Amino acid sequence: MPLLELKNVTKAFGGIIAVKDVSFSVDSGEIIGLIGPNGAGKTTIFNLITGVYKPTEGNIVFDGKDITGASPASIVNAGIARTFQNIRLFNKLSVLENIRTVLYREADYGLGDALLRTPKVTRIEKKLYDKSLEYLEVVGLTDFIKNRADSLPYGLQRKLEIARALALDPKLLLLDEPAAGMNPDECVDLVELIEKIKKTYDLTIILIEHHMDVVMELCPRIVVINFGEMLMEGTTQEVQNDSRVLKAYLGEEYANA
Ligand SMILES: Nc1ncnc2c1ncn2[C@@H]1O[C@H](COP(=O)(O)OP(=O)(O)OP(=O)(O)O)[C@@H](O)[C@H]1O
Ligand SMILES: [Mg+2]
Repeated sequence: MPLLELKNVTKAFGGIIAVKDVSFSVDSGEIIGLIGPNGAGKTTIFNLITGVYKPTEGNIVFDGKDITGASPASIVNAGIARTFQNIRLFNKLSVLENIRTVLYREADYGLGDALLRTPKVTRIEKKLYDKSLEYLEVVGLTDFIKNRADSLPYGLQRKLEIARALALDPKLLLLDEPAAGMNPDECVDLVELIEKIKKTYDLTIILIEHHMDVVMELCPRIVVINFGEMLMEGTTQEVQNDSRVLKAYLGEEYANA
């Protein structure tokens, strides 16, 4: 049984069909690439999986449960976390606070405990602090815990987004262009980081990325989207050698050349 399955998923915004009849599945432990030209519908697919949008048609099944149309919060609780193409951190909070805020959902003390600062509160706070540090260490942000999130260089903000997603303790992690704005050295670094977190947290991953070297390095299987539709699905090599994929990226001129 696949961990995630999209069955004939369509999303229309008024007259615009952003995603049309898309079906693919992801097995537990897999890392797949989701690629396609700008505006193809990739981020919309993530928004459909995470409950930001409700599919116009079709179904999404996760971990044996139909999550079609479920709320974003319940989908997080079911075990799906994501990062955003347009970084969405709490800019004015510190790096540490950005993670701790997420972990507070696990804190099971009430307002009374908090006001009186009971030993239970102190104990839980310590646990959350340690756990925050663990996630920040994994992504290599230990030296920046007190910095404001928006003071970090772009590449580190993307790593903080990854740490925040990990703090939600997901089974499935959706990464939307984690390498955007990174130079080749940072991309190599990111590939290592993604491999490490996949192993450490036993994750299944869907990776949207325009840096093809990163996709080819990480993803044995790739789904290609073009104009909202599935163009093809195949191994890294099949996708690399497919003339339809080159045409989608490079345009008709290439096809006619
Ligand atoms: N809320 C919305 N309302 C109307 N149209 C939308 C909405 N969200 C997305 N679209 C449209 O859906 C199409 C797919 O957009 P999407 O952001 O999913 O593409 P993408 O593959 O992620 O592109 P990129 O690589 O540039 O990030 C675009 O034509 C976009 O304008
Ligand atoms: Mg996008």
